[in-house]
Formats: sequence, structure tokens, C-alpha cells
Amino acid sequence: MQLPSIFLVGPMGSGKSAVGRHLARLLRRRFVDSDREIEERTGVDIPFIFDKEGEAGFRDREQAVLEELTAEAEIVLATGGGAVLREANRRALASRGFVVYLETSLDQQLERTRMSRNRPLLDTPDPAARLAELMETRHSLYRELARMTIHTDGRRVADVAREIRDRLSSSAPGVS
Ligand code: S3P
Repeated sequence: MQLPSIFLVGPMGSGKSAVGRHLARLLRRRFVDSDREIEERTGVDIPFIFDKEGEAGFRDREQAVLEELTAEAEIVLATGGGAVLREANRRALASRGFVVYLETSLDQQLERTRMSRNRPLLDTPDPAARLAELMETRHSLYRELARMTIHTDGRRVADVAREIRDRLSSSAPGVS
């Protein structure tokens, strides 16, 4: 029997990709990052897609990729921070796997995204205000979707990944 996939959601700078890669290693599963998948398929980076097609164009591509990836069993999937915005994505994530929310403070998000050149939504004079604004609309979506919430502030990637693994094996044994 195949185990359900694990889908990581949370804002930019919550560590979805780093934690996801580590967790996949711990669970001996394949790791997939939806943003990297979009970049591989298009041959260009996320800022280029935002630039040419706008956010709506990016969201269409994201939805198409998520529709495919959420159909796969036994993967660990890192989603983009805005994946929860569309109802179709939320439905696919909630019904096809086990959703984990990496909850992260604004300070920590800011700190972890400070050097990033690959996040068009933060290409603004006031990234802190932008992150706060995004969180305002998204926090409840992350919370409602997730079957497990993990705090990531001030913690190492390996510790967060281990906590997810341990909590899965004690409270959701059918998943890991
Ligand atoms: C976005 C987050 C990014 C990427 C895109 C939009 C968002 O992913 O999908 O830049 O809307 O929060 P990360 O959360 O991996 O940075």
C-alpha cells in the first residue's frame, strides 16, 4: 500500500524547501519543490515569469503543476507561499495528502529572505510591510488547511524535519 504524500505549506522564508529536502531524506521519499518544477518546465526563473505573465500567469502555472504533483503518492512536496490562495489548490492539497504548516514570524521570514533575489513579491522598498500584508490574508488559509502546525522560529532545519517525522509517527502513523 502506498503512503500519502506530505505537503509543506507556509510563507516565504518558512523553510519549506530546506525542511522538505531533509524530511524526504529522513523518510526515504522523493522530494519535489513546486517552484523549481515550474522553473524546470519553463526553462526560466520565477521573476521572469512574473515579469512576462504577471502574478496571474504564474498562479496558472502553479495550479497546473500542483494538480499534477499532488496526485503523486509518497512524495514530500514544498509548495510556494501563495499556493493556498486558490481554492482548487487547497482542495487538491487537503484531499490528496497530509498538509503541514511551517509557522514562522515576520521577523524570521524577513531574516531568511533578506538575501533572496528570486522572490518578485519582495522586490519592493518595504519587504517587511509586504510580508505582513501577505500573512494577513494567508495565515488563516494555512491554519485551516494544515493537519499539523510546526513552529520554525530560531530552529535548525534538521530539528524541524525531525519533529515532523516524530509527530507523524506518533499522531499520524499511516502517513510515515
Ligand atoms: C510566493 C512564494 C514563492 C514563489 C513566488 C510567490 C508567494 O515561493 O512561489 O515567488 O506568493 O508567497 P517560496 O514560498 O518558496 O518563497
